[in-house]
Amino acid sequence: MSIHQNIKRITTHVLHEMKLRGEKISMLTAYDYSMARIIDGAGVDVILVGDSASNVMAGNQSTLPITLDEMIYHARGVVRGCNRALVVVDMPFGTYQGNSKEALASSIRIMKETGAHAVKLEGGQEISESVIRILSAGIPVMGHLGLTPQSIHKFGTYVVRAKSEEEAAKLVDDAHILEDAGCFALILEKIPAKLACQVTKAIKIPVIGIGAGPNVDGQVLVLHDMLGITQEFSPRFLRRYHNLDAEITGAVKNYITDVKSLDFPNQKEQY
Ligand code: KIV
Repeated sequence: MSIHQNIKRITTHVLHEMKLRGEKISMLTAYDYSMARIIDGAGVDVILVGDSASNVMAGNQSTLPITLDEMIYHARGVVRGCNRALVVVDMPFGTYQGNSKEALASSIRIMKETGAHAVKLEGGQEISESVIRILSAGIPVMGHLGLTPQSIHKFGTYVVRAKSEEEAAKLVDDAHILEDAGCFALILEKIPAKLACQVTKAIKIPVIGIGAGPNVDGQVLVLHDMLGITQEFSPRFLRRYHNLDAEITGAVKNYITDVKSLDFPNQKEQY
C-alpha cells in the first residue's frame, strides 16, 4: 500500500514526503468538473488546470490566447470535482511575466475565485521576482522549465529542449533559483532524461516530468492526450491508455442510427 492512500487531501507537504520516501507522484490535467471528479476519484495525486485548455478545450493553436478569466472558469469546475488531489492552476501568458505586482494580483484572483491550492508559472531567473512576490502572499508556486509552451514564438518549435550544454546549464541554474525562491515542486517538460535525473538529484523539491524520462519524482500527462481524445498530437513520450475518440465516435454513430430508425426512445424510455 502506498504511503498516502489514507491521506484525506494531498498537500505540498505530502508531495515532499513522497519524494523523500521515493514514492512516485501521479499528475494529470483536467479542465472541468466531470473529468476532475473521475480522476480525483481514481486517486491521482495532483490535478493541473493546465493552460493546455487553450488547445484542448478551445481549439487554439497555442496556449497563448487563453485568458485569466477563462482559466478561472475552468479551475472553479475542477476544484468542485476534487476531494483529495492537490489542484494547481496555470497562470496564463501575460499575467505574470512583465510585472511582479500584476503577477501577485493575478495569482490572488486565481486563489480567491477558484479555491485551488497552488499556481504554476513557466520560466526561471527571468520570472523569479514574480515567483518571490506570489510566495510572499502565502501562495504555493510550482515551477515549469524545459519546453515552456508559452514561449513557443521565441523557440519556434516544440522540439526537445536543453540539448546543448549552454541551455542545460541554464536549466540547472534556473531549477536552483526556483527551489531557493521557495517553489514547492518543478515540472520539467521534454528534456533529455539524463539531465532531468541530474536536476532531480540536485534539488530537494519534487520534480515532475513530461517527456523527461523515468528518473524524476513523478509524471504528468495531458488527460485528453492519454485518453486518446486528442488525435493530432503524438510525441514519443505520450502513452495512450485509451482510444476515446473511436469510442465516442462509435457511441454517437449508434445514437444517430437509433434516432433515425425510431429505435430510440423505446417504450421504457418514455412517460
Ligand atoms: O498546460 C499544461 O497542460 C502543462 C502540462 C503539459 C505540464 O503545463
